[in-house]
Parts: sequence; structure tokens; C-alpha cells
Amino acid sequence: MGEPFPPGFLWGAATAAYQIEGSPLADGAGESNWHRFAHTPGLVKGGDTGDVACDHYRRWKDDVALMREIGLKAYRFSISWSRVMPEGVRLVNERGLDFYRRLVDTLDAAGIVPMATLFHWDLPAALENRGGWLNRDSANWFADYAGVVFEALDGGVRLWATLNEPWVITDGGYYHGILAPGHRNAFETPIAAHNLLRAHGAAVSSYRGHGRGAIGIVVNLAPKHPATDSDEDRAAARRGDAYMNRQFLDPIFRGRYPSELPGMYGEAWPAFPDSDLDAVRVSVDFVGVNYYTRNVVRHDAKARPDGAGVVRQQGLHTEMGWEVHPDGLYETLCMVRDRYGAVPLYVTENGAAFADPEPTGDEIVEDPLRVAYLRDHLAAARRAIASGVDLRGYFVWSLLDNFEWAHGYSKRFGIVRVDFATQKRTLKRSAAVYREIIESNGGAV
Ligand code: BGC
Repeated sequence: MGEPFPPGFLWGAATAAYQIEGSPLADGAGESNWHRFAHTPGLVKGGDTGDVACDHYRRWKDDVALMREIGLKAYRFSISWSRVMPEGVRLVNERGLDFYRRLVDTLDAAGIVPMATLFHWDLPAALENRGGWLNRDSANWFADYAGVVFEALDGGVRLWATLNEPWVITDGGYYHGILAPGHRNAFETPIAAHNLLRAHGAAVSSYRGHGRGAIGIVVNLAPKHPATDSDEDRAAARRGDAYMNRQFLDPIFRGRYPSELPGMYGEAWPAFPDSDLDAVRVSVDFVGVNYYTRNVVRHDAKARPDGAGVVRQQGLHTEMGWEVHPDGLYETLCMVRDRYGAVPLYVTENGAAFADPEPTGDEIVEDPLRVAYLRDHLAAARRAIASGVDLRGYFVWSLLDNFEWAHGYSKRFGIVRVDFATQKRTLKRSAAVYREIIESNGGAV
């Protein structure tokens, strides 16, 4: 039994629209870039798509009942832009908004605080046709969309996140081509990152004055540890840190990009108008931190664009190949506080894919590695709180096994098992343990 977490700590679980909803074109929704990507042969493992996913679009009531059973205090989900605005701009699809209205009302009635992410990677395909995040207009498109959603859901939704993991969108979607839109272009990557930041700034500004809740951004961070003490490896760790951990937070908190970026991109680094970052440096009410692993890195010119190659460590790794390193969560939370000051933080994602056993009947699925992962990371979070970090909540990734992007359904992150053939949900041991942790406000960590 450890020390309890602060009173009112938000114990939650997280999901994202394209990963769980299914029915991507129902009730007047438009196509998203992820729908298009998944339907392009060869891009997603096994040809999997989000067409059905967890069928949450139709089973959402049962899923809220599951959340109650687990005792969640909060639920983080994302809104599908192309459900709400099929063309991305102008026309509003009320039936799409109604889905989220009902969800938010039901969560509220169940005493579960809704946290909504405006953009968790699924861009309306109609906007992708117009250049997507490479188009400077994307900041205005996003602010307009955000305004529509704020008007419909603010008040019920108490915590807003503008973007989920802009670094992954740009590194995966524009540099390495493994996520939508599947581009491999060093010249595009910093432009997409820049426009995502401008979009974030525009949405936060539009929230100010009307908004009743809090608004922030969700970034994924990983401490970068040099593999050796050599100057080369330490420089690689600094570049890796600038690229992944500071590229988005430095502009938001300091109004400038990390000085390492232009050198890293070379001729692909564009001359951005200085004034752009004035509109990005707008205060956020919180930062959401997604933490999965750390990276031990060495100088490796082939590991583009940051030249920081990951060195595989001894010890336990998840099915994603990610090293299990709970101390890194403590380090990450402290790092954000030390760099950017006393901004409220949430762990908006933390969790692990492991190969779970097949369920036998209705019996709980035993997932001891995930249970240990949860406990150890929560203990690290508690240490961060004890050392003065203003951590307000923790969201396990994920409530349900779901569509793990380019990996399709092959990686299971849920604390609830989903049988994708029947849509049957079965609690895993991690969900039962999490319930005890929540009931004791962290005493049972
Ligand atoms: C994303 C999730 C994803 C998870 C596990 C995060 O990068 O926000 O959508 O499923 O990590 O890979």
C-alpha cells in the first residue's frame, strides 16, 4: 500500500475514433484519410480496416456500462472530424454530432468525466485531397471544425485536447510513410508539423472567451538516453530529444523551435514566417503526456531524420517491441515540469500490447504482464507526484483491444478483451486490478 493519489485524481481509460468506432460512413459521415489508407492494399497488416473495429458506434452504451463496471472516473475519446463535417469544412452533419452528444450525456449521467480529443489522426479525405496538413489553410479548417464541436459539446466535455501526438502524425505519416497519408518526404515533414502547431494555436484561441472547461494538447514523449558517454551518442540523444520531445512543446511554451531542427533537416527546413509562432505560443491549460517507453540511442546517420538509432536493451519488451521501462514515466513527467514550469499534466495514454491468452467462456482473461506494467507505471507516476509534479489524472491505453493502425488487430492493448469475430467483451485481470486501484484512489498500486 502506497500513499494515495491527490483527491479528485482522474482515473481514466482512453480510445480513439477510428480505432474503435467502426461504421465509418454511417449516417452521412464522409470518408477519412485513414479509411482510404486502410483500404489501400498492402498498407495495413492482414488487410485490416476500421470498417467494424469494436463496433463502438453501435455498442457505445454497453461500452459505457463497462466503464462503470471498472469504476472509471474519466474517459478519453476522440471525435471523428469527417463524421461531424463530411467534407471537412462548411456542411455540418448533425447526425454525426448526435452520436457524440449522446455519448457525452451518458458519460455525464454516469459520473464519468469526458475528455475529448479533436484530432486523433483521421483527417477528412476531402481535406487530404486539398493537401491536408501541407496546406496552410488547414489551421483555419481545424479552428472552424473545433468551433462546431465546442458549440455542440462544451460543458459536457470538460477537458479538450486539440491534437493527439503531432510528432507521430508527421514522423509516421509524412517522413516514414507508415501511417496516413503515407508520404515519405523530408520536405513535407516540417511543414506538416508547423501547420499542425498553427492549427492547435488557432483552436485554443477560438476556445478562449467561450470555453467553460480546460484545453490542452497531447504529446508522446520518450526520454532519450545515450547508449555510451561518447560526444557523438550524447549529441544523437539531444537531437532525438529535440525532434520528438521538444519540437511541439518548445513552440507552445517558448515560441521557438529547438535549435537542432534546422541542422537536422538541412535543405528541407523551410523558412517559416516568424510571426507564425506568435499564434502558437498561446497558453494551454494542461499538457497530456502519452508515455510507452524510453529510447537508448546511438549516433547513426542512417536513422533519419534525427540520426538517433535505437539500441535494443535487455529485459522485457511489449509486443510492439518497446522496452518496458517504468522509471521513464517518472523521468518524463519531471522533464516536462522542469522544462516548461508548473503546468497541470495528465498521463493521457500509458499501456502495453501483450499476447493475451484466449478467454475460456466468461472467465476473466489473465494478463499478468499488463497488470505489472500498470502497477509499475502508476508507482512511477506516484513518485512524480511526490516530487511535486502537478499530475491530475491517468488514462490507461486502452479501454478495449482495438485497431492498432498499421498493425491492424494484431496488437492487443485493451484492459478489456474484444473478440473481433463476435464483438464479445471480456474483462482482463488488468481491468479488475485497475478497479481496485481506482476504488482506493491509488492506495492499491
Ligand atoms: C496512439 C494510439 C496508439 C497507441 C499504441 C499512441 O501512439 O495515440 O492511437 O494506439 O499509441 O501504439
